[in-house]
Amino acid sequence: MPDLDVILYGAAGFTGRQTVAYFAEHAPIGLRWAIAGRSRARLEIARAEAKLAPDAVEIIVADSADQQSVDAMVARTRVLLSTAGPFARYGSPIVDACVRLGVHYADITGETPWIRAMIDAHHARAAANGTKIVVCCGFDSVPADLGTFLLARRAHAMGTGLAESRVYYQLNGGFNGGTVASALGTYESAGARMGDPFLLAPGAAISEVQRAKSRDVREPRHDADVDAWVGPFLMAPVNTRVVRRSAALFAERGAPYGRDFVYQEFQKYSPPFSQAKAIGGTLLLGLVDASLRAPALRGVLARLLPKPGSGPSAESMNRGWFRCDLVGVAEDGRRLRGTIHHRGDPGNRATVRFLCESALALALDGDSLPAGGGVLTPATALGEVVVRRLRDAGVEMKVEGA
Ligand SMILES: NC(=O)c1ccc[n+]([C@@H]2O[C@H](COP(=O)([O-])OP(=O)(O)OC[C@H]3O[C@@H](n4cnc5c(N)ncnc54)[C@H](OP(=O)(O)O)[C@@H]3O)[C@@H](O)[C@H]2O)c1
Repeated sequence: MPDLDVILYGAAGFTGRQTVAYFAEHAPIGLRWAIAGRSRARLEIARAEAKLAPDAVEIIVADSADQQSVDAMVARTRVLLSTAGPFARYGSPIVDACVRLGVHYADITGETPWIRAMIDAHHARAAANGTKIVVCCGFDSVPADLGTFLLARRAHAMGTGLAESRVYYQLNGGFNGGTVASALGTYESAGARMGDPFLLAPGAAISEVQRAKSRDVREPRHDADVDAWVGPFLMAPVNTRVVRRSAALFAERGAPYGRDFVYQEFQKYSPPFSQAKAIGGTLLLGLVDASLRAPALRGVLARLLPKPGSGPSAESMNRGWFRCDLVGVAEDGRRLRGTIHHRGDPGNRATVRFLCESALALALDGDSLPAGGGVLTPATALGEVVVRRLRDAGVEMKVEGA
């Protein structure tokens, strides 16, 4: 029998330490939680940094390369939250143990080829035993996935379906070394697979319309719906795949977003010089993508960019923010609009809030969560429950119909 509600795995890492601080401040009294990772010494530092007494929170040592230690750790909890990434390097034994032992799981991966490998290996079994393996609970892909979920719910309340969802991002934030390592690793091992717009929706019935409208955005353009210049968004190769997985899973459950539903997302540029910024931003993204695909340049980037364990300063994380404009097109042509907004660095402050509230939802709100297990997305695993939690935690999420 598990004696813990939640284990924070990878708790000594840059993001992991922030999850410890979040739980120290926000975990409800009585929640039984512990921190875990491969190094007791580093976990002791993380615990002390969060001003937690040694007897307040237990430390569990489990190296992801040692399946026995992972199994022993996972067997002790009802929910496992993981920030130990790159997930393609450290995550598979954890997911494997969670599925075998029926323990719910939430992470912040954005490594789509690895997610696909987890779907292929574990979705059927997790669905059969009701275990929720919830990937992408960070900035990738909570705003995209829950924003679209809210638009679809609004369209249904208006008596129609959602034909299209678009999310337009503006943000100010930094990069963690762990994120850089994950991006480099993904390009190194499976860069080509990332180009498939439906990578995370294996077996889904995809119409010609969906295929034609789901090609990755590659050019800047003026967008009449938001009256702004827009271009490709850096995280779109992750978020678009995740939202399309949500759409496919909802369709399987007999509650589709809409007929021929399509999702796209964009970077939005503000004046002055918004057209020039959109052109420059598009060229820059193309250059980053090409560099990541070239092994020699990847090596140069690895030397120049932040290393695992590092990230932006506390001041810079506090200065960060993001805002998403949501636009939905209902099947009857009506427009829906919304916004999601949060203060604090998207890849750290927002990510930690999204992930921790997702894990708390899994641990505490079981009866209200959508039924069913599998390798799931935030919208399909947590739906309205996590929307409510995030709103209560200060994330602004609004949607209205035309
Ligand atoms: N979705 C988002 O928006 C978002 C935002 C931020 C980060 N992320 C992702 O989160 C992950 C972590 O990022 P980060 O910046 O926190 O990285 P980090 O500081 O390098 O942390 C990585 C963690 O993994 C642990 N680890 C390494 N090898 C291990 C092993 N063999 N067994 C168990 N644990 C091991 C490290 O332990 P030690 O401390 O002992 O070295 C560390 O705690 C990355 O994959 C990143 O892409 C996603």
